[in-house]
Parts: sequence; structure tokens; C-alpha cells
Amino acid sequence: MRIAVVGGGSTYTPELVDGVGRMRDVLPVDELVLVDPDEHRLELVGGFGRRILAELGHPATLTTTTSLEPALDGVDAVLLQLRVGGQAARAQDETWPLECGCVGQETTGAGGLAKALRTVPVVLDIAERVRAAAPEAWIVDFTNPVGIVTRALLAEGHQAVGLCNVAIGFQRRFAAMLGVGPDEVELDHVGLNHLTWERAARVDGVDRLPEVLADHVAELADDIELPASLMTSLGVVPSYYLRYYYAHDEVVRELLASPSRAERVAQIERELLAMYADTSLVTKPALLGERGGAYYSEAALQLTASLLGTRPGRHVVNLRNDGTLPFLPDDAVIEVPADVDHDGVRAVDLAPLEPLYAGLVAAVTGYEHLALDAAVHGGRQRVFEALLAHPLVGQVELAEGLTDRLLAHNREHLPWL
Ligand code: G6P
Ligand code: MN
Ligand code: MN
Repeated sequence: MRIAVVGGGSTYTPELVDGVGRMRDVLPVDELVLVDPDEHRLELVGGFGRRILAELGHPATLTTTTSLEPALDGVDAVLLQLRVGGQAARAQDETWPLECGCVGQETTGAGGLAKALRTVPVVLDIAERVRAAAPEAWIVDFTNPVGIVTRALLAEGHQAVGLCNVAIGFQRRFAAMLGVGPDEVELDHVGLNHLTWERAARVDGVDRLPEVLADHVAELADDIELPASLMTSLGVVPSYYLRYYYAHDEVVRELLASPSRAERVAQIERELLAMYADTSLVTKPALLGERGGAYYSEAALQLTASLLGTRPGRHVVNLRNDGTLPFLPDDAVIEVPADVDHDGVRAVDLAPLEPLYAGLVAAVTGYEHLALDAAVHGGRQRVFEALLAHPLVGQVELAEGLTDRLLAHNREHLPWL
């Protein structure tokens, strides 16, 4: 089995390599190929990855390359984890929306649109090359914004699925609270990427979310930074990203008064790369746990194992709606539990989505449709319309101001400008 990681020079990659090393029985990897334009990073991350595999006694070879084609030869799965423009572009996305009183975040609102515009053309180009070289290969996307990027891939007919770590995070969390194994917990996780609610946590067919809320709501509220009373009254656990909606103005005030996440991440990355350069380091450092991607390697590798047929299973993924949420178009991309095997992903049946969540999901789906249109076809008017449709923007003057700033800050990354 051969797996390619595009954006393999990411500081996150040792997490994935560690997962490959530990999950040998689930996913028998012979070769892991890291693809990245940054040779220096490839050398550091690749070298460290080889030491991790050796330490775990895993026989896989780890190779690195700056060009995509050699990585695609006979590849079974391609994991996408790239970041167009790097943390510098992210720092912009997190800053200029604040000038208009809007949240600055790398996936939500105007900053997320900027990231989508930069990313979609690059990912589509890679996917075309994957299709040409390895038509059978699965593309697993965790490049953000995952909902829009996955929608772009599926619209072009690629064999792709989108993934985020929010669901596996809750699964682990609830399992620990209930004193059961993570695989025993089945989430009723519903919505769009970074716009989801946990409506139930079933163990042996019994919903134990009420028990989780009764015993641990304060702890969850601390983490998600939303009121405990909200979760108790609704009987659901929203993802952390709902804070950008339910507490938008408070978040803006906080962001205006603090350094950006991009700055913190850049600092963590500098420290991590220095550690990776130390040849005595053979296990992933604790500092890596300060990135937001906890458990992402497990989620990615378990999903890949199901797609490649070595271990079919149920995973929360991003896939075409196709009637699962009847109030959305078929080509919308939703994030829900799905049964996954060699034939692909099939969403499980879900209870109807309550109006309190369905309205927001429908609005953001409209935004994602327009965002993809803007990413593929370019043009100021399309960017403006996507922003106008976004429930966190919605006003003409605001959308105009955000459009101007988005275009001004992304000139070097948008070929149509
Ligand atoms: C979580 C989200 C990802 C996001 C990451 C950010 O893992 O699910 O979509 O990319 O957080 O983490 P960072 O350390 O870059 O802030
Ligand atoms: Mn995510
Ligand atoms: Mn319930």
C-alpha cells in the first residue's frame, strides 16, 4: 500500500507518521511519500518521520519529493493537507475582517472565503493530476475549508472525501466521560464542516448524551466557550466553531485584544521544526498537541483503511448530500456519519434537522455554493455575492468593505486578479 501526503512538509505530519507506525494491523503501509514544495521542511519532517517509524519498528519506507507526479505512481490514497500561502496568508485572513467588525478566522466568514479562493484552484489541479496518474486512488481532503474544498472535488467527479477532527474529538471525549471505549460511541453528528451539533451519543443503541450533559456540562462549556445553560436547554453539544455564530460579537472583541492564532501557530511551528532537526528525537513531541489537529491522524488513517477495504467502518465524513438532509440541494456537501468501505461512502439515515439548526445550515450551504463559484470563476461580483449570502455578513456595506479587503490582501494568490 502506497500513500502520498500532499503538504507533507507540514509540522503536523509526524502525527500522521506516528499513526501509520501504530496502526500497522489496520493499514499495512509499504510506502509513505511526502510531497511539498519546501525542500528544507521535507528534509526535517522526512528525517524525523523515518526515525519515528524506526522507533516503532515499522518497515514502511518514507520518501520525499518536491514534485507531485513521482508520488502518484501506483498510489492508493492521496491525503491533502496543504496550505496555500502558508501561515502568513492565514495571519491576513484572521486580521482584516476585524477591521469591519467581523470575525477573523481561517475557515469561518470572510477569512474562510479568502482561504477557499486561494485553495480550490490548487486542489483541483492536484486532483486532475491524481486522476490522470492513479484513477483508482482515493483523495482524502483535510485541507480547509474542508466543506468547500470537498464540494469542489466532488463537483468535478473526483473520488474524494473530506475529513475533520471535530467528530473524533467528541467521540473520544464522550467515551472518556462515559467510561467506555471510543469505538463504542456512535455520534449523531450533523451539519456542515465546522457547523455541526452532536445530537446524541449512542452506546449499544442507547443515547447517553443526556448523561454526558448532566455530569460534564461545565467542563464541555469551558472547552467550547459557550454557556452550559445553552447545551442543557437544547440537549445538544455544538462544535467549537458555532461560537463564531452564537457569540460572534464577543469573539470579535476578544480577537481585537489578542494576538492572532496564526502568530501562535507560527511560534509553535518554529519550535517544532527546531525539535525535528534534533536527530536524537524519535517520538512525537508533546508540543505538537498544542495544534488544533488532535486525533486527526487516527481519523485519517481509520478512514483510509475503510476506503481501501482493509477495515470497513462508520466514520463522520464530508460527502454529497444526495437527499440525506432533504432541505438542501443534492450537490451540497454535508458532514455526517457514513458507512465506508471499498465502494465508497454512504451517509446513514438521520432524524430530520430541527429548524433551529436547519436555517443556519441552509444559509451557509448557499454561501458555500457561491464561494465555490467565486473560487472557480473568479470576479469581484462573485466574491461580493458569497459574502452577502454569509449569515455573519449579510449587509451590503459590510460585504463591500470585506470584498475590497479580501481582494487587496490576496493579489499574489488569485490569478484572476
Ligand atoms: C482543528 C480543525 C481544523 C483546523 C485546526 C487548526 O483541528 O478541525 O480544521 O485546521 O483545528 O489548528 P491550528 O493549530 O492550525 O490552529
Ligand atoms: Mn476541521
Ligand atoms: Mn438527544
